[in-house]
Amino acid sequence: MTPGDKGAPPPLGLLAELTHRCPLRCPYCSNPVELHRASRELDAATWGRIFAEASDLGVLQVHLSGGEPTARRDLPEIIRLAVSAGLYTNLITSGVLTDARRLTEYAAAGLDHVQLSVQDAEGGGADRIGGYAGGHARKLAFAELVRAEGLPLTLNAVVHRQNLDRLPDLIDLALKLGAGRMEVAHVQYYGWALRNRAALLPTRAQLDAATETVNRAREELKGRLVIDYVVPDYYAKLPKACMGGWGRQFLAVSPAGFALPCHAAESLPGFAFPDLREVSLRDAWENSEAFNRFRGTEWMPEPCRGCARKEQDWGGCRCQAFALTGDAANTDPACALSPHHAVLDLAVQEAAEATSDFTYREMGRAPTPAPAG
Ligand code: SF4
Ligand code: FES
Repeated sequence: MTPGDKGAPPPLGLLAELTHRCPLRCPYCSNPVELHRASRELDAATWGRIFAEASDLGVLQVHLSGGEPTARRDLPEIIRLAVSAGLYTNLITSGVLTDARRLTEYAAAGLDHVQLSVQDAEGGGADRIGGYAGGHARKLAFAELVRAEGLPLTLNAVVHRQNLDRLPDLIDLALKLGAGRMEVAHVQYYGWALRNRAALLPTRAQLDAATETVNRAREELKGRLVIDYVVPDYYAKLPKACMGGWGRQFLAVSPAGFALPCHAAESLPGFAFPDLREVSLRDAWENSEAFNRFRGTEWMPEPCRGCARKEQDWGGCRCQAFALTGDAANTDPACALSPHHAVLDLAVQEAAEATSDFTYREMGRAPTPAPAG
């Protein structure tokens, strides 16, 4: 079956996960629990071939991500290859590894845009959440460099129970750093984040206050700051159209070169994701079983199959369906019509009684629990 049969247009965006290496240890990391080692990372030339194939397929933007993409010494070369393929390049970074000389190299290579993540509005909380002493100060210095280089900046703040009360300060920080756009994204609970769910889930009152803060700031800051807002599924009645639908608009490539319909898909069992060292990106997108499995609506069980919203939310998130029900082919439990919807209420109850301790991730080491600060 071709994507045409299932109505899938060419992808618009490519998430290039250049490495899983990262100096931070965020408890909500969305990368898979099993990380690829540096020795398995694709080289720059192979990325260049993938970028050319992506452009040929219709992709317009590449998000250079990780892990921490600036951990790659050959990042300027990778940026150059993406630019020469005609792609708009966005660097998604924690900013803690980049000095002025490196940033100038990225800009000279043709980098178009920088997206900087922050863990909180002030250093103590931010460094505890990121598990990296001194990280917040480095991020602030990095944002200054981005501004001096004249690159557009988006500030990304992943929000949860332990930093949501400082959302107004986070918005002030975005303004102070000269960001033109801000992403306020509630944690999505798959990958490593699921392990820390009880310490991260906000209360209903926090969520309502955050939504009000965002709505007010959007109004007051019109023309100065655009705010994108990703809400948490755990209080939802309807699921989000994750990735705009499986295999419809977006694809990710893992550090070792596997093409994925979403960045978290490697956590799903029973898939043979296409290996781009062996097949073309077009072949992976159009013909692979992995991309076709949940494309369109034919795969859907009830209640999605007979639902009027099935071509709006595409049955929600496959990774969340697997994480919460053990079967990626189930309706996303974020939907109130899912027979599994009650698991979300149970998780909220559990979180209300939980401590604030995190389990941090570190490559090559057993998880390290850390006390709340
Ligand atoms: Fe979406 Fe399925 Fe719920 Fe309908 S039943 S709203 S298609 S998840
Ligand atoms: Fe994988 Fe939603 S995160 S489909």
